[in-house]
Amino acid sequence: MSSISAEARDVILGEARTHFHWQDKPVPEALLRDVYDLAKMGATSANCCPARFVFVTTEAGKARLKPHLIPGNVDKTMSAPATAIIAWDSKFYERVPELYPHQPEARDWFTGSEQSIYDNAMRNGTLQGAYFMLAARAFGLDCGPMSGFDPDGLNAEFFPDGRFRANFLCNLGYGVDAALHPRLPRLDFDDACAIA
Ligand SMILES: Cc1cc2nc3c(=O)[nH]c(=O)nc-3n(C[C@H](O)[C@H](O)[C@H](O)COP(=O)(O)O)c2cc1C
Repeated sequence: MSSISAEARDVILGEARTHFHWQDKPVPEALLRDVYDLAKMGATSANCCPARFVFVTTEAGKARLKPHLIPGNVDKTMSAPATAIIAWDSKFYERVPELYPHQPEARDWFTGSEQSIYDNAMRNGTLQGAYFMLAARAFGLDCGPMSGFDPDGLNAEFFPDGRFRANFLCNLGYGVDAALHPRLPRLDFDDACAIA
């Protein structure tokens, strides 16, 4: 595998920003499908793929989302062309025999306890959410991830049978660069990393 260009690295991380203001430019379903089809290739434990995605793109869908957002997240979400609910399947292990067919008993690696199910779903589902954001940027979209919402209310509205549970939300579209605040600091290598 060759490395990607410096420009591509900037698109996915180096210059990529969290956006809160959106151009009036739609995100077509075909693009959401392309993004998912790239993101789904990201690695998960035993290929368990616990993340599930709901793309809220309609006025009616946004109206269902709105009451469950913290006030500071309402305007940015209502004005975004699409909002992804990145959720996890609490029975993700049921799909493991099909996703890891050479070792179908891998299903049981996850089911030792409710804690194990939760830990693996959250770990891998969050990774998949991050893969999704990188894939979205690779296709030219901007992202606005959010955890400021009432999970019980949102889950009851979108996942009433209780099987899927929201992890985080991510607004998607084409951001207004002029509305960005200055980039916040990050921890330097020597502060956040060690070599053992
Ligand atoms: C999981 C997650 C949850 C976040 N939740 C919120 C939120 O609820 N509301 C908000 O305005 N920003 C939220 N943010 C945005 C972060 O504050 C922002 O990504 C961070 O400051 C880095 O900004 P930058 O990408 O522009 O450098 C969230 C980001 C992530 C990754």
